Amino acid sequence: MKKDILTLLDLSKEDFEIFFRRALELKKEHNKGIPDKSFAGKTLGLIFDKHSTRTRLSFETAMIQLGGTSIFISAKDTQIARDEPVRDTARVLSRYLDCLAIRTFSQDLLKEFAEYATIPVINALTDLYHPCQVLSDLLTVIERKGGYKDLKIAWVGDGNNVAHSWINAAAVLGLDLTLACPEGYYPDSKIVEKALERKCGKILITSDPVEAADGADVIYTDVWASMGQEGEQTTRKQVFKPFQVDKELVSKASEDVIVMHCLPAHRGEEISEEVLEGPNSVVWDQAENKLHMHKAVLEVLMGN
Ligand code: CP
Ligand code: NVA
Repeated sequence: MKKDILTLLDLSKEDFEIFFRRALELKKEHNKGIPDKSFAGKTLGLIFDKHSTRTRLSFETAMIQLGGTSIFISAKDTQIARDEPVRDTARVLSRYLDCLAIRTFSQDLLKEFAEYATIPVINALTDLYHPCQVLSDLLTVIERKGGYKDLKIAWVGDGNNVAHSWINAAAVLGLDLTLACPEGYYPDSKIVEKALERKCGKILITSDPVEAADGADVIYTDVWASMGQEGEQTTRKQVFKPFQVDKELVSKASEDVIVMHCLPAHRGEEISEEVLEGPNSVVWDQAENKLHMHKAVLEVLMGN
């Protein structure tokens, strides 16, 4: 049966471990220059309805480096934008492609795609989740910290799509996750409840950034206004001001804290220039690891 990654709850702890192991192996092979063309003859389709630099380019590069091909499909140029039903597009594309990565607004649309597609479907970001981002970020945590157990992970900022994927990861892997968000900008309560039902790991939500940062091994932040929320930017800038990850907040964390951001970053908003460019920042590793993790994900899903 085909496997999709629509949310991280689609994965077991064992699936996560396989992805981590293979991504690290593939990274090592790549850095040693060992040729691997195991994706020869395979084609990945990328349907994107929102902007992207890292996700698009890392998926495309993953396919090229492993001998496969990718086709970028701007959703607005397809018949989807002229109301061809998703279920028809999904079935047609399944006759051409081996795998499909989709970046769009609605999680329901993604679900419908996956339901009708006979090829694996990967969530490359929706309004609700960004699962592959958190998979590759965990790889960075493992590299820097030797694992993810017994680490205090602090999310500071908006309770958004990336935060939701961290909540899902916490529920599957048993992470210790504290999220500090302004009141009114907490993560979706249904997503939190579903995660808590698993009784695995510790998920705490607070409106105090210092409580989250206190003794943290990882501090993670993301933009205050996600794609699609541009109209709220001015209000959000005011509300989120006390949530900036700056030197002062980082000083509350453990001495060797790593500071993470999925990028793109807004210096002087959710993160200060000094912290983003400082010694605790691992953001460039995060961006690189998207390439290695996407290779591992594609390999497993395309059945190599
Ligand atoms: N982090 C991330 O998903 O970046 P892009 O929006 O550039 O793909
Ligand atoms: N939360 C951000 C993540 C971008 C990678 C957004 O959805 O715009």
